[in-house]
Amino acid sequence: MNSSIPSGVWNAIDYEQLAPRHMDAGRLAYVAGGCGWDTAVAANRAAFAAWAIVPRLLRDVRGGHTRLTLGGLELPHPLLLAPVAHQRLAHPDAEIATACAAQATGTCLVASTLSSCTLEAIAAASGPARWFQLYLQPERAHTQGLLRRAEAAGYCAIVLTLDASIQLASRSALRAGFAMPADCAPANLATYPAPAAAPLAEGDSRIFQGAMRHAPTWDDLHWLLGVARLPVWVKGVLHPDDARALQAAGVAGLIVSNHGGRSLDGAPAALHALPAVRAAVGEGYPVLLDGGVRSGADAFKALALGANAVLIGRLQMYALAVAGALGVAHMLQLLTEELHACMAQAGCALLCDITPDCLAPQTPC
Ligand code: FNR
Repeated sequence: MNSSIPSGVWNAIDYEQLAPRHMDAGRLAYVAGGCGWDTAVAANRAAFAAWAIVPRLLRDVRGGHTRLTLGGLELPHPLLLAPVAHQRLAHPDAEIATACAAQATGTCLVASTLSSCTLEAIAAASGPARWFQLYLQPERAHTQGLLRRAEAAGYCAIVLTLDASIQLASRSALRAGFAMPADCAPANLATYPAPAAAPLAEGDSRIFQGAMRHAPTWDDLHWLLGVARLPVWVKGVLHPDDARALQAAGVAGLIVSNHGGRSLDGAPAALHALPAVRAAVGEGYPVLLDGGVRSGADAFKALALGANAVLIGRLQMYALAVAGALGVAHMLQLLTEELHACMAQAGCALLCDITPDCLAPQTPC
């Protein structure tokens, strides 16, 4: 099933165009949507359109490449596979297919806590460049269980996602009647029963005393940093003060992200938040970005505005749905070539040549 690349895929973004032929309307709406009115999803994309890449002339780029060292890993390109849950929504092979594509292309994969396959099965299929995305569990013993399993399975870093304690549903997914199929349930959590929901007292808020009851706090972060044996990155950073405080707390690196617009409707576009976060933590501290990256040109713009690398979210689900492992590998190859082409035209042979002055504001059409 889905084992060849269909015609009509010339650019990575073509997988987004083709996905509706391979996913039913409910699944597609769940993946493509954000939360509420999907305004943060649109903002992520619009932020990239606000910048142009300025061509430069006569520069010799024949020694060009996109290799980098990130979190101790030697990587061929600055594109990571973002943690994306429930991948069986897109393909029966789910995260195993994605992991095979990551291995084939040398891409660093970030496996989600909420994956359809276990973190051990994903590790067995992936290359050495693998990180584990962690959601803190209501019981610390369960969080510690996930940590120990990730360490034992050879993951190299923990990516703690902090921006999704509460996620409002996407109205487009609701309208499409989406419900999570049973075979997409999070395999990693099968052995950790959810605590019984405590009843709310009269006058309690469904949000503050309900949904946010187990939401992480700074105490939890300090606890995690004390028990984790792997470097801990934090995903979901948008405010420079949070960035500074996380850096001071000993976090290994940051991911500027609004969760692909799936957490707070009206959140700032990740790309717009990036320069202030970079300025807050200074040069030399790792900062990644995700949200709205659909092309090598988008990746170039994020690198120019201060990111060391970018993560690819929905495009991996679209490519997975269209052509399985082959599709994900092909999508990554297309993105890499698109980035090479932008670098060559902007006169940048190396990633360190990509600086803010490679960009100019783009006047809206
Ligand atoms: C996500 N994302 C996400 N993030 C995370 O930290 N843990 C997770 O389990 C998930 N799951 C998830 C499922 C689906 C269907 C989507 C679309 C996204 C967010 C993801 O890591 C990333 O931040 C965004 O997807 C980036 O935006 P783009 O590339 O999708 O525009």
